[in-house]
Amino acid sequence: MSVTLTDTDVRARLDGVLPDAEIAAIGPLLEEIEALKRERNAVVLAHNYMTPDIYHGVADLKGDSLALARMAVESDADVIVMAGVHFMAETAKIVNEAKTVLIPDLRAGCSLAESITGADIRLLRERYPDAPVVTYVNTSAEVKAESDICCTSSNAVQVVESLGVDRVLFLPDQYLGRWVATQTDVEIILWEGSCEVHERFTGEELRGYREMNPGIQIIAHPECPPDVLAEADFVGSTSGMINWVKTKRPRQVVMVTECSMSDNVASEVPETDFVRPCNLCPHMKRITVENIRDSLRDMKHEVVVDPEIAARARKAVERMLEVEV
Ligand code: 13P
Ligand code: SF4
Repeated sequence: MSVTLTDTDVRARLDGVLPDAEIAAIGPLLEEIEALKRERNAVVLAHNYMTPDIYHGVADLKGDSLALARMAVESDADVIVMAGVHFMAETAKIVNEAKTVLIPDLRAGCSLAESITGADIRLLRERYPDAPVVTYVNTSAEVKAESDICCTSSNAVQVVESLGVDRVLFLPDQYLGRWVATQTDVEIILWEGSCEVHERFTGEELRGYREMNPGIQIIAHPECPPDVLAEADFVGSTSGMINWVKTKRPRQVVMVTECSMSDNVASEVPETDFVRPCNLCPHMKRITVENIRDSLRDMKHEVVVDPEIAARARKAVERMLEVEV
């Protein structure tokens, strides 16, 4: 196999992100991945929660859930490797069925996706027949297939308001739903799902950071509980949070979300001091540079969605992609 990427290229991408010794240690693995990408005409899409070696050293494109879905639609690669969790890989497959979509570890799940099934939605529709179903993308293809429209953390308010109705069923993240309810007059009927990472943050913890660090900016993901969001200077998706830091360049900030976010942005905003509470997403952390290499080398694990379910789920995802943000 020919390897054309030079040491200098690998070093340049990770310079200032990882220590030199670490860059030297993973350099050959990164080169192998680059060669496999070319051989397979593959692209690695990475979520913002990937570790810095993947985020800066391996990803061709990176972003939040909405950006990853759009990238999957637009990609002309033959193979998409999703460096993220299973629902993200499934969404990529749903919007671009002709592509081979790989996920490096099949166990990369999500507590929100596990909290609801298609059967739950059918029961809810019987109980609230007039309420359209708005489903967070952090769900299985089967759940998306039962939904009227999907949303992500970056477009949830616009999606809810795009329907022109008085009330919606908003599933499954109760905290994102409660936050949306503060931003719109549409009545939001909730489901009791939550993210195991964001539900651990507390308002008290954030008040402590403010007392210890006067002037600190607090920015939070809307999967956090309401008492956390009440303390926040900005609430947004993972990419919204990154853009906020890059634009505002605060003296000191705490990003109330998964740990790797601060690690990834810190090298790009050197003048900002990041206070780093650390809540890891164990599912995201199943993806490693090694298993991305294995995935490309062995073409595993291919994400397969039943075509009938994919067709119905696609309608809900595509309807979301049409909403202007
Ligand atoms: P974003 O769409 O904001 O990246 O969120 C995805 C996610 O799983 C956050 O926990
Ligand atoms: Fe799911 Fe939470 Fe992990 Fe995001 S951080 S993938 S919502 S468990």
